Amino acid sequence: MVYVTRRATFSSSHILYNPELSDEENFALFDKCANKMGHGHNYVLEVTVAGEPSQKTGYVIDLKKLKEIVKREILDKVDHKHLNYEVDFLSGIIPTAENIAKGIWSVLEPKIKEGRLYSVRLHETENNSVEYRGE
Ligand code: NI
Repeated sequence: MVYVTRRATFSSSHILYNPELSDEENFALFDKCANKMGHGHNYVLEVTVAGEPSQKTGYVIDLKKLKEIVKREILDKVDHKHLNYEVDFLSGIIPTAENIAKGIWSVLEPKIKEGRLYSVRLHETENNSVEYRGE
């Protein structure tokens, strides 16, 4: 099995706030991330596809195709957007890195036809990242 990774970056704003809780509880949970006006991150996304290289091409997946899928399905929808209000696949969820990674997985998984989606890793800051593998 070979694992092929495409890296991409996007910038978005979000608010971490659970509407079922009081303001006090939200600030206790999320601290300044609960600020109503939101704040931004420069996200780094790593999408990994697993498979055997094709006999014909030697590729698990043509990285040019993976780049186009990631751009069309994810980057065009999230870059310079507010994740709480403008992104259909994140609507109604708290846009933590965990939930964003799961949302990205749900969009990409059915679009990957060569190999299979293996992981979605999302770096929210230099020091913090999450990884989702679909289970
Ligand atoms: Ni944040």
